[in-house]
Order: sequence, then C-alpha cells, then structure tokens
Amino acid sequence: MHRKKLIAGNWKMNKTASDGVVLTRELIAALGRETSVDVVLCPPFTALESVGRALEGHALKLGAQNMHAEKSGAFTGEISAEMLRGLFVTHVILGHSERRTYNAETDASINQKVLAALAHQLKPILCVGETLAERESGATLAVVQRHVERGLQGVTPEQMGACIIAYEPVWAIGTGKVATTAQAQEVHAFIRELLTKLYGAPLAQKVRILYGGSMKPANAPELLAAPDIDGGLIGGAALEAKSFIELVRAAAAR
Ligand code: PGA
Repeated sequence: MHRKKLIAGNWKMNKTASDGVVLTRELIAALGRETSVDVVLCPPFTALESVGRALEGHALKLGAQNMHAEKSGAFTGEISAEMLRGLFVTHVILGHSERRTYNAETDASINQKVLAALAHQLKPILCVGETLAERESGATLAVVQRHVERGLQGVTPEQMGACIIAYEPVWAIGTGKVATTAQAQEVHAFIRELLTKLYGAPLAQKVRILYGGSMKPANAPELLAAPDIDGGLIGGAALEAKSFIELVRAAAAR
C-alpha cells in the first residue's frame, strides 16, 4: 500500500507572525513545487493568518497546534474549529504530550476536540505516546492503545479517512534521544494493527502514522524507510528552513 508521506512542522511557541512569514517564504522557494510529499506548517495561532497568506497558491498546508472543542462561548483565551477554518487551516495537532502535561489534557478532552475538528472538516493529527517511566515499566503498547482507542472514540469509518496519527514517545521529544527505527516501527505496526481491528484493513492501510521526537535530517532517511512510518511531526528541526527542507526531501526520496 502506497501512502503519501506527510511532513508536519510543529513550531510550538516559536516565531512571531513576521518571523513565520520569513521562514515560510524560504520553504516555499525550495518546496513550492513539491507535490510528492504533503507538507503542513503548524505555526502558533498568532502567525496563522500571515503564514496562511504567504502559503496562498502553494501546495504547502496550514495546521494549528490546538483548538477548543466547543463552537463558541465563554472560554477566555480559546480558539474554535470555526475560527481556524476562517483562516484556511486544514490540519490541527491534538493531544500533543506537552498539552497533556502542561494543560492537563485528557484522553476524554482530546477526543472531544478530535470529534469537533472532524465536524468542521479539519484533519486531526492525534498525538499518542508513552513517557520514559511507562516505557521502562513495559507499558508502552498499553499506553499507546489507550491513547488511540480513547482519542478516536466515536470517530466513524468515513471520518477516519481524514485522521492522521502521530506516535511521539515523550522521552524523545526535544531531547535529542530519537527512538531507534525498530522501536518506532514496532509501535507504528501496533497502531496499524489496532486500526485494523477498529476500522478494518483497507482503511487502516490508508491512515498515515507519523513519527515525532527528535527527527532530524540525519536520522530521518532510516525512520522513513520503515514500512509503517509515513512521515514526521517535526519540532526543533522545523524552525530552520535548511533542516526542514532536508526532511521533506528525505520523505520525497522514499
Ligand atoms: P522535536 O519535537 O522534533 O523537537 O523532538 C517533536 C514534537 O514535539 O512534535
């Protein structure tokens, strides 16, 4: 089964609106005609509009890093799916481990966001993954299974086609400690098996499962060659044009 690779840049809390445009222009210059890989830029909320404008007419897509599950209302400081759609956002990262840790997001609240995103034609990038303590205690697959099953609760087969999963071992995020290709592939294959049980093989074969956690140009070619690794969710290496372009090229070479 051929799945088009996807490289998403998670800028986290980096780049002002104007810095974001500078980076976006550099990326467009190099990747504007790259159609063999899906490329998604996920700037902070404050840069969505300016980056979105810079992307107009190009194949690169715009993603947000979070959203609220409700449509509107008294939720100070929050942003809804509809607001994101108004800025031509197509993807949204949900359940990132930093939000699970620092913003007390739970599988249940993340699930609400996944459903709301889908209801508004946004493609969720659902992040799942174990902490170091969980890996060391042998709980990796149980944790990933819980994140996937609870995160996707109520998602219909029709909607599942729009979902992307990102496996991000928490101990590998921003630490320089990348999972070995074998470690990552094991979990990716496990997630695909789980999706097969939940949605059947034809659909499970179509869903893209990204790896995230210290993915860099140096380790990407090997990771991206693994049969169930369909791309990357990139943090640090997405903040500079050179490394991000190299990552997209590594995905295009697969
Ligand atoms: P990193 O971040 O590439 O800096 O490890 C990945 C992520 O958190 O999405």
